[in-house]
Amino acid sequence: MEEHLVRCRLKPWSPHNFSYPLTPIHFHTIKADSVLGKHHLNRIMKEAKTVKSIVIYATKYGSTAEVAKRIKAELGGEARLCNIMTDSVPPLDVYDTVILGGSIYVGKVQKKLTNYISRNLNSLLTKNVGLYLCAGETKEEGRLQFLQKAYPDTLYRHAAVKEVLGYAYAFDKMNFLERWIIKKIKGDNISTAEYDNDGISQFAAVLNQKGSTP
Ligand SMILES: Cc1cc2nc3c(=O)[nH]c(=O)nc-3n(C[C@H](O)[C@H](O)[C@H](O)COP(=O)(O)O)c2cc1C
Repeated sequence: MEEHLVRCRLKPWSPHNFSYPLTPIHFHTIKADSVLGKHHLNRIMKEAKTVKSIVIYATKYGSTAEVAKRIKAELGGEARLCNIMTDSVPPLDVYDTVILGGSIYVGKVQKKLTNYISRNLNSLLTKNVGLYLCAGETKEEGRLQFLQKAYPDTLYRHAAVKEVLGYAYAFDKMNFLERWIIKKIKGDNISTAEYDNDGISQFAAVLNQKGSTP
């Protein structure tokens, strides 16, 4: 068998580590024709390359979910979505990157997201984190204030990236009072959606870059 020397990155909790007394410096050189064999090596290499990400979001009418989907599409490695309004959030242990997203209603982000963050703050502070919001606010200063208010200060400072990435007004989904409020603010009752695709790409690029740095 041809001899391959491979330098790969292993996670400290890798089930393959039993063969190698690795330190938390996860680089190791192995031979493809050693005891491990090719099959084993392929598995290790797959694991070594795969960064796992989760986008945990709260949404009322779907725009934060739409942004979550677009972020997921731009993330490298394995990524999954979790709607905190309907699904239970899996344990974070296996994830390297955690993205949190919510939407603003009368100045506030969803309580479910806030509560989840409070309960899991310590774990979140060990991850590669991105924070986003959907909000109709167009002024930069207002957007920044929403971001700072929606997320705890420690998490906000820890996060590699934080942005408002779009909004949607779906009049057909709103109740009477919501329609009335938004019509007053917006000046009409035409459903609109704007997603910042460049912002979404940059947001994911920052996380991809940070996530791939050992
Ligand atoms: C009743 C209502 C109140 C809103 N209040 C605000 C607000 O205070 N500030 C803001 O920037 N956007 C506000 N928005 C806009 C939402 O944040 C925006 O529609 C967002 O895309 C909703 O996301 P979701 O569909 O994922 O819940 C409001 C929208 C509605 C319907």
